[in-house]
Amino acid sequence: MDPVRRQYEDYPYPSRDPADEKKRLITGSPSHPVEIDHFIFGGKRDWSAPFRVLVAGGGTGDALVMLAQLLNDRKTPAEIHYLDLSTSSRAVAEARIAARGLSNVSFHTGDLLTAPELGPFDYIDCCGVLHHLPNPQAGFDALAAALSPEGGLGGMVYAPYGRSGVYPLQEAFGAAFAQMSPADKVAAARETLEQLPPSHPFRLNPLLGDHASGDAGLYDLLLHSTDRAYLAGEVIESLEHAGLKLSNFVEPARYDPRLYLGAAAAAGAEKALREMSPADRATLAEKLAGNIKTHLFYATPASRNVAPASLKPDLIPVLHKIDARALANSVHKTGKMRFVADGLTIERPVNRALAPLLAAIDGRTKLGSLQQRAGIDWLAFAQAVAPAFRALDGFNILRYSTFLAS
Ligand SMILES: C[S@@+](CC[C@H](N)C(=O)[O-])C[C@H]1O[C@@H](n2cnc3c(N)ncnc32)[C@H](O)[C@@H]1O
Repeated sequence: MDPVRRQYEDYPYPSRDPADEKKRLITGSPSHPVEIDHFIFGGKRDWSAPFRVLVAGGGTGDALVMLAQLLNDRKTPAEIHYLDLSTSSRAVAEARIAARGLSNVSFHTGDLLTAPELGPFDYIDCCGVLHHLPNPQAGFDALAAALSPEGGLGGMVYAPYGRSGVYPLQEAFGAAFAQMSPADKVAAARETLEQLPPSHPFRLNPLLGDHASGDAGLYDLLLHSTDRAYLAGEVIESLEHAGLKLSNFVEPARYDPRLYLGAAAAAGAEKALREMSPADRATLAEKLAGNIKTHLFYATPASRNVAPASLKPDLIPVLHKIDARALANSVHKTGKMRFVADGLTIERPVNRALAPLLAAIDGRTKLGSLQQRAGIDWLAFAQAVAPAFRALDGFNILRYSTFLAS
């Protein structure tokens, strides 16, 4: 059997217990409908219209369950297709969907290279899969061919620097434990990790935790047979080769080199940065950051023209992954916003007078209505909110979407 399929038959990843569906819904990026709307549909999708989705390499079902549940709750007429090589991962995903009594999902066992046979899709999720293909570009190409011309893709692939220490160990374990059974490989890797020199880059990297989450996590991180990491610019190139274009990375601010440069350094580098391609600029930011473990991205067919969601009166702002009142209270108290991402902490000053506006962002009210309530004209309103909105957008907190509006 193909070693990647063998791995995910033995160790479905991530490890999930269908009984937990009674307790919580896992949500995240990519593929939260609010993000899909923002990055793929300009913040204006009509969620009462039919929506055909593929979850390619759906694994144990995190994105599948999130999409199936949220689209069901929103009463979107959705048809969601799950595709994965591993029958044991599929069994977990099926049990999770059954535990929730959802009926908007069809399950398929197979290679994502066959995705075009199931298409076309309005949206494709492919999280943590393409970097495990023997020919990842063929995977990008197949997903692009399965997309509707008006659709889009949300994906995740590994990044090298945030995973520092992983690849030397993967290579070493791969060679040293080649003759062992999967269970013996896990035991041998655990024993070796305990004795790893304290100065090994793997030990020095505080961002890595999967190996501590159980055998499936350890196998996925350190014993994988087929795993390549992408620089940000390489993601853009692979998308372009497949006829797609990047909508954006998540979080977008982390792909701007200026986030990491002091004021004098940024001024000196300005011309060089301006003359670089977006792909080179994103890779440069990644090198300065050093803490990007995965690239989360949204993309659309290159031929598609959709106005990006941004500060416009007819769009509905959503404070995503954060409580609007908590954010407003903290702005009121401190006059700043703080963003934390993989060890990086960024603070931005905010006008305290914006606190009531932030508290009023309920995911249902258009910006134009919020502006009218503020009693000022659009230009003055846009100027007043722009710096705070830019910061919130950069850290994927402010999104534009009709998803929550009835
Ligand atoms: C790391 S898991 C990620 C699962 C899921 N997407 C998630 O984010 O939780 C990778 C999954 O991709 C599947 N996979 C790997 N290569 C594949 C291929 N060529 N076609 C379909 N599925 C594949 C594996 O079986 C596994 O379930």
